[in-house]
Amino acid sequence: MNIRTLLIEKAVAAMVAAGLPEDTNPAVTQSTRPQFGDYQINGAMGAAKKLKSNPRELAQKIIDNLDLADIAEKTEIAGPGFINIHLKPEFLSTSLKAANEDEKLAVSPHATAQKVVVDYSSPNLAKEMHVGHLRSTIIGDAVVRALEFRGDDVIRQNHMGDWGTQFGMLIAHLEDQISQGVDLDKVALADLETFYRDAKKRFDDEEGFADKARDYVVKLQGGDAHCEKLWKLFIATSVKHSEEVYKRLNVTLKQDDIMAESAYNSELANIIALLKDKHIAVESNGAQVVFLDELANKDGEPSVFIVQKSGGGFLYATTDLAACDYRSNKLGADRILIFVDARQSLHFNQVELTARKAGLLRDETSYEFCPFGTMMGEDGKPFKTRTGGTVKLADLLEESITRAAAKLAERESDLSDEERSEIARKVGIGAVKYADLSKHRTSDYIFNWDTMLSFEGATAPYLQYAYTRVRSIFRKSGIDAASLTADVAINEPQEKALALKLLQLEEVLDLMISEATPHVLCGYLYELASLYMTFYEACPVLKDGVEPSVRDSRLVLCNLVAKTLEKGLDLLGIEVMEQM
Ligand code: ARG
Repeated sequence: MNIRTLLIEKAVAAMVAAGLPEDTNPAVTQSTRPQFGDYQINGAMGAAKKLKSNPRELAQKIIDNLDLADIAEKTEIAGPGFINIHLKPEFLSTSLKAANEDEKLAVSPHATAQKVVVDYSSPNLAKEMHVGHLRSTIIGDAVVRALEFRGDDVIRQNHMGDWGTQFGMLIAHLEDQISQGVDLDKVALADLETFYRDAKKRFDDEEGFADKARDYVVKLQGGDAHCEKLWKLFIATSVKHSEEVYKRLNVTLKQDDIMAESAYNSELANIIALLKDKHIAVESNGAQVVFLDELANKDGEPSVFIVQKSGGGFLYATTDLAACDYRSNKLGADRILIFVDARQSLHFNQVELTARKAGLLRDETSYEFCPFGTMMGEDGKPFKTRTGGTVKLADLLEESITRAAAKLAERESDLSDEERSEIARKVGIGAVKYADLSKHRTSDYIFNWDTMLSFEGATAPYLQYAYTRVRSIFRKSGIDAASLTADVAINEPQEKALALKLLQLEEVLDLMISEATPHVLCGYLYELASLYMTFYEACPVLKDGVEPSVRDSRLVLCNLVAKTLEKGLDLLGIEVMEQM
């Protein structure tokens, strides 16, 4: 159920009947104030400008042809030619009832399901996941969940960085640790951060170690069985670390979704051959380079995209070109979404331009680089530990849970310790996720424990609390929410505002999915919870003296609020609880 889409169809039909061309933009929007109605058709002004006619007269002609019999109770022209639409209470009632009785809240599946490849999380396996991977992981996962909810065929791809020169140093160090009999799980690889630091130190300081490391890179890339065995051991441990983080974060990525850089190894030589063949890549100082005039700097010099090193080695760039081929040509993706730090914008621009020229990306595939901004510390610099080190994601999440537990302990509660720790986990994880997801994807943001864990304002705890408030109505009254089939009567303005918001979930999801921006859903849920609080103040539900029919109507609204909050938060990967 998407009221805006419905009105667009009706408006376009009316415009055509009024003699306007079929491609006229009806410009349908949600009204910003109740006195402007619930929705507006604003297209008359633009159309009149093109025809050099009077916009108010044109608006009248559109209204004369507008068939909103079952939908609107009043349509009126305002100002220079806005058409304000006031929806019928009966239309709202039937729509709400339908949403309440449908498991998917009357959100319809996409008319044609698309095949969407989503590249997200994609940490480098040389180290443990750090806060830099948080954004890609949770933004990507929210978009994936929304796409699946709408019936798209989603292929998750965790493009893990498991290949490259650091691995020579890591496996050389690993080999020594094994020969010294160090317990791998409990000591050597228990903390990859330390392991990496030790290996790096030896690489920099220890006589002969760097040479051995370089030799191991060559051997590994040449398929040497001994090196490969060590590499696999290291990768498996690193993957296990990420898997723990995914589980903690309530992220849907599974082992099967790993499509790491090394998966493309066998294709890389073919990619270069193809680029050379088509004269897209040319030799420059021994390397293979693509010169891109499209991305020329202001002096007119083309952008330089190196696809193969002078020694013959392949690069991050080569792998991404092979990934384009696989996703577009092999899998037949309609869309490819890539969630990566904004600082890699140029790289992905170069990849797309090159891949399109070479036919590695079909015209039908939309390649969508979805950049995100940086998580900053209070000092306005990229988030670091007090001593300036990188913050491990696992540690950050544990800290959030501990802090949530402390905040919850301040509240009165008759819950058991076990229940409380489960709630603290959901609140702690939810807080970190919501604080991040609610910011506009492309902006940098400042990480702040107090704001994100607050029970006031746009936070996970506020929304989770709102959910428990609604659910407590059903607990108190003993009414089974699932059995509610009453008709909804919209009388009070607070009921009206809440009803309208409830019916706009699909519009929000459409926007979130087309732009890959979970923050619109975050904002929506916050508005919904706030409207619920206002409604609850103004419209008693269980109080003595409330007519049974009014009570039941309001109970349906309450139930739909609970279901919408639960579903909306679930699409963000945030869990709810019955009590807190
Ligand atoms: N591993 C990379 C990093 O941590 C991100 C990979 C993103 N995906 C891709 N297809 N390049 O920066």
